[in-house]
Amino acid sequence: MKVKPEVLNEEQTAFLVRQRVARLATADAVGKPHAVPVCFALARSSIFIALDEKPKKVPVSDLKRVRNILENPEVALTADRYAEDWSLLAFVMVRGRAELLEPDNEEHASAVRLLRGKYHQYETMRIEENPIIAIRPEKAVSWGALEPESHGAGVLDTIHGRRSVRRYLSKKVPDEIVDQVLEAARWAPSPHGRQPWRFAVLRREETRERLADAMGEEWRVNLEMDGQSAEIVERRLEGSRRRLLDAPVLVLLCLYLEDLDEYADVERQRGETTMAVQSLGAAAQNALLAAYDLGLDGGWMCAPLFCPEKVIEALGLDPKLVPHALLTLGYAEGDPPKRRARRSLDDLVIYRD
Ligand SMILES: Cc1cc2nc3c(=O)[nH]c(=O)nc-3n(C[C@H](O)[C@H](O)[C@H](O)COP(=O)(O)O)c2cc1C
Repeated sequence: MKVKPEVLNEEQTAFLVRQRVARLATADAVGKPHAVPVCFALARSSIFIALDEKPKKVPVSDLKRVRNILENPEVALTADRYAEDWSLLAFVMVRGRAELLEPDNEEHASAVRLLRGKYHQYETMRIEENPIIAIRPEKAVSWGALEPESHGAGVLDTIHGRRSVRRYLSKKVPDEIVDQVLEAARWAPSPHGRQPWRFAVLRREETRERLADAMGEEWRVNLEMDGQSAEIVERRLEGSRRRLLDAPVLVLLCLYLEDLDEYADVERQRGETTMAVQSLGAAAQNALLAAYDLGLDGGWMCAPLFCPEKVIEALGLDPKLVPHALLTLGYAEGDPPKRRARRSLDDLVIYRD
């Protein structure tokens, strides 16, 4: 194993900013070592660590890492990646001097902003009231595949594995898993970061029945208007109804346009709405991928888009919401009968180098 000592270069910086956790090693005056896992944020010339304690058992000034830093500012911070494929192993170790930034100081405030930007959990923790550890790096050492082609973390496996499921077992979906799926949706990109969507979760059978009745009524009118035979109308309505009642959980994705920018001209307003719809698609895909990753399956139903008022009425929702899609969530009854093939990249990509 060849370890290359050097200053914190771009490769090491890029590796460090991708890591969510590192180990902070401190030592007391006589050199007795102490190492703890820490969340951290990286700035151009410093690494910041909040003193939050999860949960707080002792005042932050009594924390061993804090006492050590006051006695001996020499510290080391190591962030690493482990994978069963050892060609992906890597670490960066930074040595430097640490100091405590007290609140009411410009750098402290910007460190808090950085930490909150990286860890949403800090949004609701009062880290601004405690000192922040600032490490001033003096030396960086790294080893391994800092920039591997694949992180081996499986996102592509999840993308490839996800499929639309239209038949579910009656097995209940734990609420915590539904929450995690919604959490993934919440983190989708959106225009101006305004998150122009709201999610209605439908779990009770009576609720889903009410929705199925309302949408079925409208669909019947449309199918009859299209001149479909009575038999086909009945079959399609029955299939759709079964899907709504069969899935243990439905999530209705609605657009919510009230927080978006308003323009005097129609063109730009249309662009604004289109962006909102695009981001609703991103939220849907985040949800479906998270569901798949968590061992669930999902499906997408466009029906609400064609009868938004009926859906609002049936569910007693705010009329400012615009129902767009339903995600069905549950455990697949079996592998879906067919998986749609995809066009090749040759069909989809145009290079204009
Ligand atoms: C905007 C949108 C609307 C869709 N509406 C429906 C729908 O109403 N019913 C349905 O069974 N599948 C619907 N789907 C799912 C697609 O049929 C499915 O994603 C596609 O066939 C690819 O299959 P896969 O998801 O298994 O990879 C919809 C997908 C999208 C993106």
